[in-house]
Amino acid sequence: MDKLLDFSGQVALVTGGSRGMGREMALALAARGADVIITSRKAQACEGVAKEVQALGRQALAYGCHVGKWEEIDGLVNAAYERFGKIDILINNAGMSPLYPKLSEVSEELFDKVVGVNLKGPFRLMALVGERMAEAGGGSIINISSTASLNPSPTSEPYGAAKSGLNALTRSFAFAYGPQVRVNCIVAGPFLTDISKAWDMEAFTANAEQNLALQRGGEPDEIVGAALYLASPTSKFTTATTVRVDGGTP
Ligand SMILES: NC(=O)c1ccc[n+]([C@@H]2O[C@H](COP(=O)([O-])OP(=O)(O)OC[C@H]3O[C@@H](n4cnc5c(N)ncnc54)[C@H](OP(=O)(O)O)[C@@H]3O)[C@@H](O)[C@H]2O)c1
Repeated sequence: MDKLLDFSGQVALVTGGSRGMGREMALALAARGADVIITSRKAQACEGVAKEVQALGRQALAYGCHVGKWEEIDGLVNAAYERFGKIDILINNAGMSPLYPKLSEVSEELFDKVVGVNLKGPFRLMALVGERMAEAGGGSIINISSTASLNPSPTSEPYGAAKSGLNALTRSFAFAYGPQVRVNCIVAGPFLTDISKAWDMEAFTANAEQNLALQRGGEPDEIVGAALYLASPTSKFTTATTVRVDGGTP
């Protein structure tokens, strides 16, 4: 294995690791030697991915945690450090972007939930894990953002606003915990995961063919290259920045 992409002896925590892009990143890290903590709300779904990690010869911890709830995050972080003693790679991947009929019908509850999962949770995880990474002398944090954070997204606010906040936190935390800890962001374009099941696929395909340079949505494993790059020493002079993996979204 190329040394630059050898994660042997390292521990990665992936939120939203039970399915979609999170599962792909968790398995890709495990396939290259990392032990992995897989977390999402449904512990049982995480157990399934944990078994896949173990089948690759690595250790895994499945942990149920709603990332919008700080008490649950505290429990997750304690359990992770108790089991592995360290975290080298944190991927803040859990996210959700519910659809709604019109902006004036976005309820306070929906707004709070979207901000909680996409912004408030990553803040708390970066604060707790980043601090310990800095004390331990190193680490890489990767936040999964969205093109909705950069382009006007009237049909997916407050999601776009929450992800814009995540882009801002990426830069702040890179300065807070650098030089030991690197903090970067992957700005994802449209990916064909469970999230896309709510889309009008006919309209999506027509739009993608016309507007995206690659003329299609991404497959979940197409996030992996950027994640391995940012997690590994391949990117050791890269921090406080964003990498777009968006099929050429304008
Ligand atoms: N798919 C896209 O088009 C797209 C585009 C741009 C950005 N993104 C971003 O990419 C990331 C991954 O998306 P995906 O498409 O792979 O999503 P996905 O297939 O829907 O998976 C979402 C993951 O997040 C977990 N999750 C959801 N709510 C959670 C909560 N409150 N607490 C903890 N875990 C939670 C889910 O598991 P549980 O249900 O068990 O909690 C699941 O593991 C998200 O941050 C998303 O915003 C996606």
